[in-house]
Amino acid sequence: MTGRRAILRKAPIWRAILRTTPMRLTLRLALVFTLISIAGFGATWWLADREFREAVEETLEQRIESLAGAGDADAIARAVFDAARRTDGEHMILRYDRGALSIGNYRGPLPEGRLREALLEDDDNDVEGSYLLLTEQARGGLLTAGQEASALRNLREAFLQVLVFTLLPTILLAALGGVVMARRAARRSAAIDEALARLTGGDLSARVAQVPGPPDDLTRIGAGLDRLAAAQEASVSALKQVSADIAHDLKTPIQRLSVLLEQAAARAPEIAELDKARTEAEGIVATFHALLRIAQIEGGSPRARFAPVDLGALARTLAEVYEPAAEESGRRLALTLRDAAWVQGDRTLLGQVLANLIENALRHGAGPVELTVEGATITIADHGPGIPQAEREPVLRRLYRLDRSRSTPGNGLGLAMVDAVVKLHQGQLELHDNQPGLKVTVRLERGKPPASGVA
Ligand SMILES: Nc1ncnc2c1ncn2[C@@H]1O[C@H](COP(=O)(O)OP(=O)(O)O)[C@@H](O)[C@H]1O
Ligand SMILES: [Mg+2]
Repeated sequence: MTGRRAILRKAPIWRAILRTTPMRLTLRLALVFTLISIAGFGATWWLADREFREAVEETLEQRIESLAGAGDADAIARAVFDAARRTDGEHMILRYDRGALSIGNYRGPLPEGRLREALLEDDDNDVEGSYLLLTEQARGGLLTAGQEASALRNLREAFLQVLVFTLLPTILLAALGGVVMARRAARRSAAIDEALARLTGGDLSARVAQVPGPPDDLTRIGAGLDRLAAAQEASVSALKQVSADIAHDLKTPIQRLSVLLEQAAARAPEIAELDKARTEAEGIVATFHALLRIAQIEGGSPRARFAPVDLGALARTLAEVYEPAAEESGRRLALTLRDAAWVQGDRTLLGQVLANLIENALRHGAGPVELTVEGATITIADHGPGIPQAEREPVLRRLYRLDRSRSTPGNGLGLAMVDAVVKLHQGQLELHDNQPGLKVTVRLERGKPPASGVA
């Protein structure tokens, strides 16, 4: 559960933000806005550019027409000469080329073509820059008029600047807004994520409770999730109640049956089956008892009885209790205490945990059994066959036993009980490979010794 939450937090923050609905919407909108802006500006610029060119072209055409109307080639040459003298090359150039003859206020090279834009330079006539040129045939020569066209370039630059200066801030602001909204949304959905992680981790009491912020679709989803979890919790607890009820109702008649069998066995000792039947009935009673006890522990009721428990003293007691049994079967039970802590808990239940784990090590394991208490962590290790990785989780379920253990005494409730008690104490239960053997670790939370200093 905590691990899952840690994973949620570990994802890079920018990726988490990029993966939110508001951020994606913002980015898409910004893209659409950019495309529309570019298209709009492009179209406007294209229209303005065309308008300008047409206006210039008309001016140039008129100029050429009036010069060409001067008469024959010599008359045109004179007219161009006169007009060019009165015209500032910085704004307009005029030129007449006929064979080797070239007259006008621009002497530099001219590119081919009718209407074109070209970069011209002629220091003598103050010609420098971009010109829009129009050239027409006139009496065996070429008559050219050109107008300075930096306005055209200025127009282009102005459009580009407007585009950049309106678009960049807009995109930046949109992205910023998106990040802010995404962070808010992430904060809001974190409540739902967390509840989901806890629910899937098995904590059916987890609820979203409240999604921060004003009521909207997220709030509705949170409320829906809570209703679903409540329904799930209710049906699971109903199921548990039913099994507890069955165990409870059958316990008494089976207990009576066990007593009757005992009496019958005493009266007819020659019938060996009666004794076996009595042992079976006692096993069933023990199973029902354990089932009810686990249900009770899972109900959480004994938590009110929590008190400081000295783990070291508890382990010592249990080790003493099981030492004879271990020795009887030629095994050794070694106890190691390292800075054994006090924990807040139920002494009887914690003792049951130790008893179940030691019993398992003696019954299912082999070699010496090592019981260690280090701080608030208890470890019980043996050198038997262990439990394969795939079975370490199911083995915590009620009544689950490995196939090889079917013939050994027991009911498959020992580890389920351990799990329930550890959960009740909000500790962690881990099953590891002891290479060979099983190593069970129970991590509890360090508590304080009682104020009086006595257990
Ligand atoms: N120390 C151990 N070494 C090997 N297998 C074990 C050990 N402890 C438990 N197991 C396996 O886990 C199963 C479940 O254990 P448990 O819940 O205590 O039930 P029980 O001991 O009544 O069979 C056992 O039946 C056994 O197969
Ligand atoms: Mg057991």
